[in-house]
Order: sequence, then structure tokens, then C-alpha cells
Amino acid sequence: MANNGREVRTFADLEALSQAAAESIVAIARESVQARGRFSIALAGGNTPKRTYELLGERHRDAIDWSRWQVLFGDERFVPNDDKRSNYKMARDALLAGAPIPVDNVHPIPTDTPTVGDAADAYDRTLRHVLADGTQPSAIDLVLLGVGPDGHTASLFPGSPVLAERTQWARAVEAPTMVQPSVPRVTLTLPCLNGARNVLFLVAGNDKRPVVVEILQGGDGARRYPAAMVHAAGRTVWLVEQSAMPPREPNT
Ligand code: 6PG
Repeated sequence: MANNGREVRTFADLEALSQAAAESIVAIARESVQARGRFSIALAGGNTPKRTYELLGERHRDAIDWSRWQVLFGDERFVPNDDKRSNYKMARDALLAGAPIPVDNVHPIPTDTPTVGDAADAYDRTLRHVLADGTQPSAIDLVLLGVGPDGHTASLFPGSPVLAERTQWARAVEAPTMVQPSVPRVTLTLPCLNGARNVLFLVAGNDKRPVVVEILQGGDGARRYPAAMVHAAGRTVWLVEQSAMPPREPNT
């Protein structure tokens, strides 16, 4: 289904969504390596993408040229990287620890800097270094994103001043008060997300339904949601579990 520049695909459950997501990631990785000799991916945090990461390692391991991957992160909680709230820890446990990705090709957002602002500045430099294509900053091949019940994505929260950022690719975010974990974060910014060649949203859970319905209906109200502000330079695809989609009209 096409929706305001987005492709929307619906799935009965998280397992089917995760299988489709893993297949899409493998296809985009292959396409990127064929076109440019490498594949850069920004991983999403939270819970939804965990099964996708597990499937990449369990079912697609041999179909992937891991040596060409550059692994980045869409956002990070400013906690130690072995903390159970760490997005890096989730990805490491679900995929990275078991995948033969060169260690120098995995770029966690630093959380051991004196301040969260220092971490954001350091990651902005990392992004520009890793993505440099000659002398030009290049784009991330694929950004994975989730959506919160308040319409946030990565750690871009409704009403955040960071939404107005137009040059930095990574910024520090104060601890959100309405979203757990309520810790400071580092997030990729809209210019970075929207410069991506591909964005893949993974959305599951009926707590997301009100926001997803508003975003897909495209009303003015949806414009306040950061997840509605993300439109990749290339393709934007939403993989949505049925529980988060508008209720189906009864077959009359
Ligand atoms: C984070 C994530 C966040 C997440 C959404 C959805 O650091 O919390 O980046 O943006 O994607 O909150 O989370 P779930 O997938 O757990 O519902």
C-alpha cells in the first residue's frame, strides 16, 4: 500500500514482520555492496527489532557478506554498554556477538564520555568519517527505526528542539519524561535520517495503533510526530504488525 511517499506492508504477527524485515535487509545489503562495495546500516533500539536481528544471524548468515558491513546506531541511551537498557547491548546479544563483522566496522554510540553532548559530537564525527565517500559525506544505506506510542522515532521526541537541527547528524537529547528509560540519549537527527538511501520502520504492538492510524491518515495532527517527519531520500517502507494498523472494516 502506498501512503504519502511511504510503502506500507502489514503482517499478522511480529514473527512474520521480522522475517520480512530480515529479507529486506539482506536484499538492500546485497544491492549496496554491488553498487558501492559496502553496506552501512543504522540499527534501531527498543524491543521490536530484536527478532529481526536474531533471524539475520540464524537464517541469513551465509547469504551475507558481513565483511562489507558498517554498523551504526540510530540512537542510544546514555548508559554503560553492558547495561540492560543499552541499545548496543540488545544488538550485540541478538546479532553482533555471533556475526563475523570486523570489530572495527561496528560503531557504537559512545556512552563513556564526560557528557552526553560530548558523545553526540564524537558520534557526529564518526558518522562523517565512516560514511565519507571520497571528500563528500555520503548517506547511510539503510536506517532501521521504530515508533513509540507518542510518535517518537530513534530518540526524536515530539516537541524536541533537536527536531529543528539542520546540520549536525547526531545530537544529545535530555532524558524524556514520558518515555522509559528516562535517561539522556544520543540520536541521529532528521537531516541524517532523511538523507538515508532506505528507511525501514518496524512497528508492532497495539499501543502504537493510535499514532500509526494518524500518521497513515496523513492529517495535520500527525505532523507533530517525529516518525511522520522521516522520509528517506530513497525508499521509506513501514512494516507494520496488524495489531498496530487501523482495524479492518468487517467484510460486508
Ligand atoms: C529507543 C528506540 C525507540 C524505539 C521505540 C519503539 O531507544 O527506545 O530507539 O525509538 O524504536 O520506542 O520501541 P519498541 O520497539 O520497544 O516498541
